[in-house]
Amino acid sequence: MLRLLVTGGMGFIGSNFIRYALRTRSVWTIVNLDKLTYAGNPANLADIQSCDGGGRYRFVLGDIQDSALVTRILDEGIDVVVNFAAESHVDRSIMDPVPFLQTNVLGTQALLDAVRGRSLERFVQVSTDEVYGPAPAEIVFTEETPFRPTNPYAASKAAADLLCFSSHKTYGTPVVIGRPTNNYGPCQYPEKFIPLVITRALENEPIPIYGDGQQIRDWLYVEDNCEALCWLAEAGQPGEVYNIAARTGVPNREVAERILNLVGRPVSLLRSVADRPAHDRRYALDDTKIRVAMGLFPAWTLDRGLEATVQWYVAHPQWWRPIKSGEYRRFYEDWYSQR
Ligand SMILES: NC(=O)c1ccc[n+]([C@@H]2O[C@H](COP(=O)([O-])OP(=O)(O)OC[C@H]3O[C@@H](n4cnc5c(N)ncnc54)[C@H](O)[C@@H]3O)[C@@H](O)[C@H]2O)c1
Repeated sequence: MLRLLVTGGMGFIGSNFIRYALRTRSVWTIVNLDKLTYAGNPANLADIQSCDGGGRYRFVLGDIQDSALVTRILDEGIDVVVNFAAESHVDRSIMDPVPFLQTNVLGTQALLDAVRGRSLERFVQVSTDEVYGPAPAEIVFTEETPFRPTNPYAASKAAADLLCFSSHKTYGTPVVIGRPTNNYGPCQYPEKFIPLVITRALENEPIPIYGDGQQIRDWLYVEDNCEALCWLAEAGQPGEVYNIAARTGVPNREVAERILNLVGRPVSLLRSVADRPAHDRRYALDDTKIRVAMGLFPAWTLDRGLEATVQWYVAHPQWWRPIKSGEYRRFYEDWYSQR
């Protein structure tokens, strides 16, 4: 048996992780602590809630900065913490960095303080490839590459990684850091690039593309990331960092064109808008370390992953249409009207 505390499990990757872990790890139990910000959506796990994961799953509404609450959960018996909780959208961090510092930096520190001195097997910190900043052409970044974050989101995640390292060195906290590349798949909030393109294409609306659209991202299907993170939770070496990648490396405009092709909409829907400030041109990671350690990775090609993702959004308008009418619309209009 392995008892997990998953934070931010109502968000995109966290909810996919919980569903995947309950399906593939029959002896795991999971407590999901989530504050339900705009990005946390109980509908992401409605199927699990209703059947209660066979008694193996429980949701707790709360903030990772609420030390008394986190301590109560830890006192019930937790072997592994997996910290997904974060403010995760770069554009929003450019509009207002403060919530990013609160959750990503102070929130991570609060969790590290809460677990200090406890007999935990692992504290898995879900970091990002963005901490390294942009990779020059032909270069891939290893786990040893120095941090050069270029936006407030990436800087807050880099700060959290440093706090995790310091907790490992100072207090012996069994920290394991995973640094995945850009994820995509079901239940991703439509402010992010791939669901933005899919949902606007389905609505036959113009699709904003930053600048020349030649920014390169290494698109990782969320289920492959979940398998890698499960492995980190059960076998990651404390004190170590693991890059998690798909080695796809495709420019954004090409991704958008592939999606339009799948949805059956014309490329003329794409509209170039003023680029995001400090928009990193390219991310590329060397993920040899985790591939060698796990022996099997990844399972999804970009073609198959995009097809599955488009199919999911086509089949679930009841999931994304309500999101697009509320707080999301205000954000979209604020941000894109200036571009
Ligand atoms: N999405 C990606 O492509 C990607 C890539 C690399 C790394 N990551 C990292 O993976 C993690 C999850 O990303 P995501 O895309 O699923 O994010 P998300 O924005 O979809 O979900 C974040 C979740 O955290 C919760 N949350 C926020 N603040 C909280 C707090 N103070 N206390 C408790 N819960 C809180 C939200 O309610 C939400 O459910 C983040 O740490 C992110 O930095 C994401």
